[in-house]
Amino acid sequence: MAALEPERAKLDTTIPNESRIADYFLGGKDNFAADRAAAEHALTIAPELPALSREGRRFLRRAVRFLAGEAGIRQFVDIGCGLPTQGNVHEIAHSVAPDARVVYVDHDPMTVVHGQALLQDNERTVVIEADARDPAALLTHPGLTSVIDLDRPVAILLFAVLHCVPDDDLATHIVTHLRKAIAPGSYLALSHPVSDLCPEKTAKLAAVYQAQGTITGGRRGNLRTKAEVERFFDGLDLVEPGVVYTPLWRPGEETPHRPDATWVVGGVGRKPRRPREHPALT
Ligand SMILES: C[S@@+](CC[C@H](N)C(=O)[O-])C[C@H]1O[C@@H](n2cnc3c(N)ncnc32)[C@H](O)[C@@H]1O
Repeated sequence: MAALEPERAKLDTTIPNESRIADYFLGGKDNFAADRAAAEHALTIAPELPALSREGRRFLRRAVRFLAGEAGIRQFVDIGCGLPTQGNVHEIAHSVAPDARVVYVDHDPMTVVHGQALLQDNERTVVIEADARDPAALLTHPGLTSVIDLDRPVAILLFAVLHCVPDDDLATHIVTHLRKAIAPGSYLALSHPVSDLCPEKTAKLAAVYQAQGTITGGRRGNLRTKAEVERFFDGLDLVEPGVVYTPLWRPGEETPHRPDATWVVGGVGRKPRRPREHPALT
């Protein structure tokens, strides 16, 4: 398991950061020269990355609407939230359930400062700096426990963040800890780029991001496969249609972006009211 390096996340604008690279792909202005250079390099390998980032936000919107609406969830923890953009989790959740409480979590100090500035007058939404690689510390952070009651159902969101933890033991530790800690009736929603559709391209990207220092959770020769991502939902009841390429997850009225070219999967799982004797949950 990759060791936690707490100092790594401190603001260093010479090292590209996933949050600011994602911001660049989404047309934002909160990025530095190193982020733009890393993003441009990645675009030479996969010019579709901005389209995938936009598609990721569409999946996030549909999943959060489902969770706040049909699933009746009123507490959200968005881990690896990224820089504020259009259609943030609290905005989507509050459009359905104005009383919903949202905790944003990121390990990037700049992301946290931006979020805090944006949300300072919002009592039901907080932003905390914490590292997903230490899920026990994350869930007991006073900023989180002041807003979220973990004895009640909560939605844990891991959108486009677990690929930042290539080490499989560490990623499994994170998700297992979260699954066990949440109350029955809680949900886990996540998205994850995968290697199945274009393995050569994703292997090149994984190598580039790891070499740049953008990814901090260990090393791996390629992104996870769809089957490997499905295991993160062990012990949970998958909401229909299961783990699928994100354009296929409840597209509703939206015209799905090309699923054959969107190498990101997503899914939503619910912890059973009476958790079975499952090693993933006990
Ligand atoms: C690709 S961005 C995704 C942002 C947002 N969730 C989305 O779907 O648009 C990945 C985010 O995860 C954050 N991140 C990466 N590793 C992390 C870790 N170990 N703990 C907390 N956040 C992390 C990055 O700083 C970045 O903001």
